[in-house]
Amino acid sequence: MSTNLSQKTSIPRHIAIIMDGNGRWAKNRLLPRYAGHQAGLKTVRMVVEQCVKHGVEVLTLFAFSSENWSRPPTEVSQIMDLFFHALRGELKRLQKNNVRLRIIGERNAFSPALVQRIEEVEQTTEANRNLLLQIAANYGGRWDVIQAMRRLAQQVKNAELEPNAINEAIISKALSFPDCPDPDLLIRTGGEQRVSNFLLWQLAYTELYFSEQLWPDFNIAEFEKVLTIFANRQRRFGKTPDQITLKTHNA
Ligand code: FPP
Repeated sequence: MSTNLSQKTSIPRHIAIIMDGNGRWAKNRLLPRYAGHQAGLKTVRMVVEQCVKHGVEVLTLFAFSSENWSRPPTEVSQIMDLFFHALRGELKRLQKNNVRLRIIGERNAFSPALVQRIEEVEQTTEANRNLLLQIAANYGGRWDVIQAMRRLAQQVKNAELEPNAINEAIISKALSFPDCPDPDLLIRTGGEQRVSNFLLWQLAYTELYFSEQLWPDFNIAEFEKVLTIFANRQRRFGKTPDQITLKTHNA
């Protein structure tokens, strides 16, 4: 009997999520947008627990983009406050679930107190191994490529790197998370179907799933539905369907 690749790769090693729809969720309930972000934090907890349960290795959440600074100043400072308090409030749960936290993005725009708290939580959870939770904050895919290119250009200037030696692996290592696999699955909630300057380089072969649910409504049933859809997709990485079926069949 012929099998398909999905049986071998049924659980994504790395899931990336664009958490969209907090504002609309709040508006639908005549609540301030901030209430939507607070409700979104509960969904973050649920997804982290589900990833631990299903054995996902890396979860990367897009929490605040480089472009989000252009939101009304009150909303920006409320989101920053939420991060600040969540970092301390969630620490116990991260430890209990053996989850390592890493923030990716440009930190120098954050207040010194927020940077200090980020560093504390990263250090405290450094040895945790159940899941690597990466929060993209003040992150943009183009920013990531620019900072990587600058780093490599400096190495070329210092005669530490030959221009001809630059390849995919070297570029991947210069980006924000050199030590984990590219996402296998990208989920975007909130009904929009775009990548919005998230992990541009790393999404090259990622399976995409767009959920109509607003982020605070995203629940276990929808998460498990996405996992099932992923498990039934055939990832070909540029090969033909026959090559994939044969390879799996003969393995
Ligand atoms: C997008 O919804 C959401 C954000 C910009 C903020 C995300 C923040 C959280 C989920 C809160 C907690 C997260 C962590 C990791 C502490 P939107 O405001 O763009 O919604 P809209 O499209 O309906 O306006």
